[in-house]
Amino acid sequence: MSRVLVVGGTGLAGRAVTAEAVARGHQVVVAARRTPDDDAPAYVDGAAYVTADLVTGDGLEEAVDGADVLIDASNAGGRRASYVFAHGSRNLLHTAARYGVGRAVLLSIAGIDGARYPYYRSKLVQESVYLESPLEVRIVRATQFHDFVTSVFERGRRFGTLTAPSGTRFQPIAVADVARVLVDAAEGAGEPGSTRTVGGPQVESARALARQWKDATGTRRPILSVRLTGPLGSAWRAGRHLAPEYAVQGTAYSAWVIGEA
Ligand SMILES: NC(=O)c1ccc[n+]([C@@H]2O[C@H](COP(=O)([O-])OP(=O)(O)OC[C@H]3O[C@@H](n4cnc5c(N)ncnc54)[C@H](OP(=O)(O)O)[C@@H]3O)[C@@H](O)[C@H]2O)c1
Repeated sequence: MSRVLVVGGTGLAGRAVTAEAVARGHQVVVAARRTPDDDAPAYVDGAAYVTADLVTGDGLEEAVDGADVLIDASNAGGRRASYVFAHGSRNLLHTAARYGVGRAVLLSIAGIDGARYPYYRSKLVQESVYLESPLEVRIVRATQFHDFVTSVFERGRRFGTLTAPSGTRFQPIAVADVARVLVDAAEGAGEPGSTRTVGGPQVESARALARQWKDATGTRRPILSVRLTGPLGSAWRAGRHLAPEYAVQGTAYSAWVIGEA
């Protein structure tokens, strides 16, 4: 058993990581800026919760104190992303090194090498901050989560549609499947300094996936094909985010939607 710190452990991926690490018998501490009530969906029974802010550094010392390994599943959106991923990761790793944390695992995104999309570029910077740190680092790059792909479809809700990016395929993965790989890495699987990519079990068109969501929810909203502009749209149409060679035997989108709809 190790003492595992899950940074961002109240988030979508972080909750799954926390649940997986607790289930494997690790002593788990979750750090985020807000701690959940014990009846909140983000609360995992058996984990301890501390407040910490990657950017200001408040609470980081308490969070890392006594940890053997940290798993970073934090996130930041919009213009703050580059600052949080660079400055926040430096803060975290610097503090972790001072407190003798031996190992760090970062959750990143598949296919971001050479990306022009600003969020992906900030994840690349975050990866380099990790790889340059004195800790023993492993990076796990995942394809898009089932929940994320669904949120893309649901962007059409206010127009009475489901939106499916045209000419785009996805290889969505369940966060529980990503969590297993992250906790494996936290336990020492893979070489120090290595990057492992994991993808969902199937590559399917956005439209086919949207159809599965539509059927599972029973919504009458039509599926509207939209052409995404900008660097994200072109990266997705080129399939740079796909990793069929790293498909895991996990929960397919078709099975996941049944539980979520
Ligand atoms: N979405 C996808 O399909 C996908 C695919 C592959 C990889 N990823 C990566 O997976 C990671 C997690 O994504 P997610 O969607 O699970 O994130 P999320 O649900 O938005 O959760 C983010 C977590 O980070 C915490 N956090 C945010 N700012 C913080 C700060 N300054 N200090 C401390 N904690 C902070 C949040 O809690 P508080 O707000 O309370 O602080 C929360 O616990 C991201 O790095 C993302 O790039 C995502």
